Amino acid sequence: MKINHLLICGSLLLLLAPTLSHAQQNQPSIEQLLVEPFLDDYYSNVVYGYEIITDTQKHASRYVGNSLDCSNCHLQAGTQKEALPLNVAGMYPKWRAKNGKRNGIGLRIRECFLYSLDGIMPPEDAPEVLAIAAYITYLSQGEVMGAEPEGRGVPTLPATGYDPNPANGRSVYLEQCSSCHGEQGEGIEEMPAVWGLDSYNKGAGMNGIREAAGFIWANMPFGNGKSLSQQQALDVSAYLNLQYRPADPRDSKFLKLLEDLFN
Ligand code: HEC
Ligand code: HEC
Repeated sequence: MKINHLLICGSLLLLLAPTLSHAQQNQPSIEQLLVEPFLDDYYSNVVYGYEIITDTQKHASRYVGNSLDCSNCHLQAGTQKEALPLNVAGMYPKWRAKNGKRNGIGLRIRECFLYSLDGIMPPEDAPEVLAIAAYITYLSQGEVMGAEPEGRGVPTLPATGYDPNPANGRSVYLEQCSSCHGEQGEGIEEMPAVWGLDSYNKGAGMNGIREAAGFIWANMPFGNGKSLSQQQALDVSAYLNLQYRPADPRDSKFLKLLEDLFN
C-alpha cells in the first residue's frame, strides 16, 4: 500500500514538474499588470517603463526635446520584430562604435533621449532610465543571454545596384507618406513628425539612410509594411535624410557643455 502511495505521489510530482517550471516562466502580461491593484517594486518599475516608452511626452517630458515617443520607432511598445524590438537586455554590455566604448543598457537608453528624442541625456540613476531598463529586462525574458534575438533591429537591405535617389524618394513620399506625415514632414494629428524641429536630430540612428530604409521598408506605410520595393525605401529614406532637422548635439560645443554638467 505504502509503496503504491509513494508511486502515485511520485508520478503526480513528475506530472506537476513541467507545469510548475512553465508557470515560473510565464510572467503576467502588461494588460494584467496595468489593472493590478498592488505591484511589487520590480513590476511597478516595469509598468512605469512601459508608460514612458508609449507616452514619453507625458512621463519623461523633462528629458525630451521633440514631439516623439519611444514607441513611434520601437513599434508596439518595443515588441514588434524588425521594428527595433526592445527584448535586447541580454545583448548588453556591448561595444559601440558610435561612442567608442562599452555600453550598458543604461547608456543605450540615455543616448536615445539625446539623439532620437532630441533632448538631454538623463543622469544614470534617473528613475525614468531605471524604469525603462526594468521594462527592457521584462521584455527580454525567455531570450538567450548573449544571443541576438530574432528580428532584432530592422532588416538590412541588400545592395540594389542603384544609389539611393532622393528625387525619386520625393515622389514616393508625396504618394505614400505625406497623407499621414504631412507635406512638410510635420506629422498630421497624432502621426509623428519625420523632419523639422519636432523630429529626431542628425545624430539619431534613424538619420542613417540604410537604417531608416530598413525600418521604412519593413514597417511603412503604417499597417502596410513590405509593400514598397527596397529601392523605393532607400529613395524615400535618402529624401528624409536631406530635410531640415535639429543638429547633431556632438557638433555643438554649447550642448556638449550642458551634457557634461548633467553627467
Ligand atoms: C497611415 C499613416 C502612415 C503612413 C501612410 C506612413 N506612416 Fe510612417 N508612421 C505612422 C505612424 C502612426 C507611426 C508611429 C507608429 C506608432 O507610434 O505606433 C509612423 C512612424 C514612422 C517613422 C518613425 C517615427 C518618426 O516619426 O520618425 C518613420 C521614419 C516613418 N513613419 C516614415 C514613413 C515613410 C517614409 C512613409 C511612406 C513610405 C510612411 N511613414 C507612411 C503612420 C504612417
Ligand atoms: C526616431 C526613432 C527612435 C526613437 C523615437 C527612439 N529610438 Fe531607440 N533606436 C532607434 C534606432 C534607429 C535604433 C538602432 C540604431 C542605433 O543603434 O542607433 C535604436 C536603438 C535603441 C536601443 C538598442 C536596441 C538594440 O537592438 O540593441 C534601445 C535600448 C533604445 N533604442 C531605446 C530607446 C528609448 C528608451 C527611447 C525613448 C526614450 C527610444 N529608443 C526612442 C530609433 C529610435
